[in-house]
Amino acid sequence: MTDVVPISSILKGERTGEKVTIRGWVHRYRTSGKIVFAQLRDASGIVQTTTKLGHVDEAGFAQAKAAAVEASVVLTGTVKEDERAPGGYELAVEKFQLVGPSHDFPIYESTVDADAQEVLLDRRHLFLRSRHLQATMLLRAKTLSAFREWFDEHHFIETSPSVITTNACEGGSELFTFDYFGQEAFLSQSSQMYLEALSFSLERVYCLTPSFRAEKSRTRKHLTEFQHLEAEAAWADNDANMRVQEELVTYVVHRVTETAKTQLQQLGRDPADLLAIQAPFKRYSYDAAIDKLRAMEYDRGRDAKGQKRAAIEWGEDLGTADERALVEGETSPVFVHDWPSDIKAFYMHENDDGVTVACADLIAPEGYGEIIGGSQRSTDIESMQRRLELQAKRDGVPVDMAAYEWYFDLRRYGSVPHAGFGLGTERVVSWLGKLDHIRDATPFPRTPSRASP
Ligand code: 4AD
Ligand code: MG
Repeated sequence: MTDVVPISSILKGERTGEKVTIRGWVHRYRTSGKIVFAQLRDASGIVQTTTKLGHVDEAGFAQAKAAAVEASVVLTGTVKEDERAPGGYELAVEKFQLVGPSHDFPIYESTVDADAQEVLLDRRHLFLRSRHLQATMLLRAKTLSAFREWFDEHHFIETSPSVITTNACEGGSELFTFDYFGQEAFLSQSSQMYLEALSFSLERVYCLTPSFRAEKSRTRKHLTEFQHLEAEAAWADNDANMRVQEELVTYVVHRVTETAKTQLQQLGRDPADLLAIQAPFKRYSYDAAIDKLRAMEYDRGRDAKGQKRAAIEWGEDLGTADERALVEGETSPVFVHDWPSDIKAFYMHENDDGVTVACADLIAPEGYGEIIGGSQRSTDIESMQRRLELQAKRDGVPVDMAAYEWYFDLRRYGSVPHAGFGLGTERVVSWLGKLDHIRDATPFPRTPSRASP
């Protein structure tokens, strides 16, 4: 058998005139008696193939006739340039081997245009073969590689903390709980507390783990399970933390314009948008962000009673409309730092003003919203206990203070200033790939209404 080559090598013009073997799945299929036209897809691309009776033997032609959309095949033939073929090349088939037949594939490209999201989600295991999801999965992989490259080059050590825990990191209201041999346990909302422990050993650490949020938010930005990229550094304050984030993000968005250029373009993202992004990013204090938003006219949507929302007030969290307004006209993401402690987590370092905490959210351009949440960590056990109680009252979920003793130990034995952050990888991929919805940034999205396939 001739060598199996990736379809991309044909599309690059490297195989013209050569006899090659390709293998993959039938993307489009059409036959007119004595000739079979099949577009063949592998992981690297799609190419037109033509199978004629006479050029293949009768048995081979029978297999070509029996093929259909999404059948898997191995084809040997000669590569020809052909202006009319999509991509400019065609394989004139000399040997057609049907490997796995497929009948009435339940997804066709036309389904994709129709409003059939639920159908496509039910058939996610098959829809993953679409050009759209193939591109987003490749973009996702290249994005993760770029993150790792940056961390490795900057002496952050990758670690793998458990996702089974008895500590709520982000408050008790959004926890998935389960029975762990008679003890109540949670699926982790964040690896932060474990990374803090590791940072007092390895100094700079990161991890990529699933995080879980039992939120009933049905938005374009929320999943109940997401892949959380988190980092922690000893001897760092909030400012150093922001510098790490802007360098990391700038590196990654530039890098994917090299490694995933085709996928970005296919998804409708102009790589020039990403190349325009430069550190340092604009920094608004929370106070300045509120002032700016209050001076702007924009639609904040409607509240639960259907009333138009009034202008944002100091002390409120930023909603989708506020985030969008704040980054209007921006090419790079922007930071909003030093938020009121009342709307932030118990573990953030309290500033001297007595009202704010040393933290920052990074907001992506174009309305993609918060992609990173980070902070300098408190080293004051009493402050954390006080705020855990407050948070418990707010959430209406009692706090098990004893479960935090190990975390407070970190402050008892050689504590140092430290800071870290968590980045939602699906939010970043959505933004980079200009996706309409976060679910397409992950292969098997988990939302309040879906835990399968
Ligand atoms: O802002 P969050 O809740 O911060 C933390 O969990 C910190 N403990 C992280 C840390 O400091 N190590 O979450 C961090 C990021 C958000 O900015 C967002 O990008 C993503 O995680 N995220 C979600 N992504 C998808 N679906 C959800 N429901 C998400 N919730 C948070
Ligand atoms: Mg946050």
